[in-house]
Amino acid sequence: MNEFRLDGKVALISGSARGLGAAMAETLAAGGAKIVIADILDKEGKETAAKLGANGLFVHLDVTKESDWEAAIETAVKHFGGIDVVVNNAAIETTSLLENCTLEEFNKTFNVNVSGVFLGVKHAIRAMKPGGISGRGGSIVNISSAAGLKGALGLGAYCASKGGVRLLTKAAAVECGRLNYGIRVNSIHPGLIKTEMGVKTLNDYVRLGLIPTEEEAEAAFINAHLIGLGRPQDIANGVYFLASNAAQWITGIELSVDGGYIAA
Ligand SMILES: NC(=O)c1ccc[n+]([C@@H]2O[C@H](COP(=O)([O-])OP(=O)(O)OC[C@H]3O[C@@H](n4cnc5c(N)ncnc54)[C@H](O)[C@@H]3O)[C@@H](O)[C@H]2O)c1
Repeated sequence: MNEFRLDGKVALISGSARGLGAAMAETLAAGGAKIVIADILDKEGKETAAKLGANGLFVHLDVTKESDWEAAIETAVKHFGGIDVVVNNAAIETTSLLENCTLEEFNKTFNVNVSGVFLGVKHAIRAMKPGGISGRGGSIVNISSAAGLKGALGLGAYCASKGGVRLLTKAAAVECGRLNYGIRVNSIHPGLIKTEMGVKTLNDYVRLGLIPTEEEAEAAFINAHLIGLGRPQDIANGVYFLASNAAQWITGIELSVDGGYIAA
């Protein structure tokens, strides 16, 4: 058996209508997995799922709603016969100096980025653990950020939320390991990738007057990554590895996929 293949596995990826999540969906499908595209963007989500043919299915999922999680996981199991991988990828980014960040903005960021991941972890564990509706163990991959490992100007709420994802991941890994659930839980910490979110971050730096122009913002971000900017595919490759049996002895880690951003 090739431990780097994903044949027979079913993966649900939150926030996969576009951006990094869509790249993860295509990459895991190319390795043989069946994919549930789960997002609040119905039109884009259906289009992304359609590209995968019979191996893709779209479900509407707002990660902040527990009933949506229950329904999405049940649909995945009914449609594809089980659930082996849950990638908690959906998130929002808030750019604001802490001194100006409203409590509403802060709470909204936490609601999607932390509570949304908590619900995904909770319902993945329930479904994958022995006796669950899938019951065959699995891999949970939580998408944190390089900004979940060190502070970043103008990203206080986002940094705090992604730091929360980092330690939620480790706590879940401990529970699943100690309780012999056969479930691994790891986090991935991407550097800047020019998705809609990545481009918004660059634009927001200029809007907030933190960097004079978009060109200078981009140059500063490129310079912060030792080997240049990455592609969505680079993040998807990290997810692929942690989802696969090749990572069967890896749990509770934080995998930086960031072109050396954290090392510098
Ligand atoms: N792009 C970057 O530079 C970067 C860097 C580090 C970490 N990340 C992380 O990678 C992940 C993907 O980011 P991206 O760049 O693809 O962002 P993106 O904004 O392009 O895509 C995010 C997706 O999440 C979905 N989403 C948002 N709120 C949702 C909700 N409540 N329920 C369900 N889906 C929801 C959106 O509809 C969208 O499809 C995020 O966790 C992000 O924090 C991104």
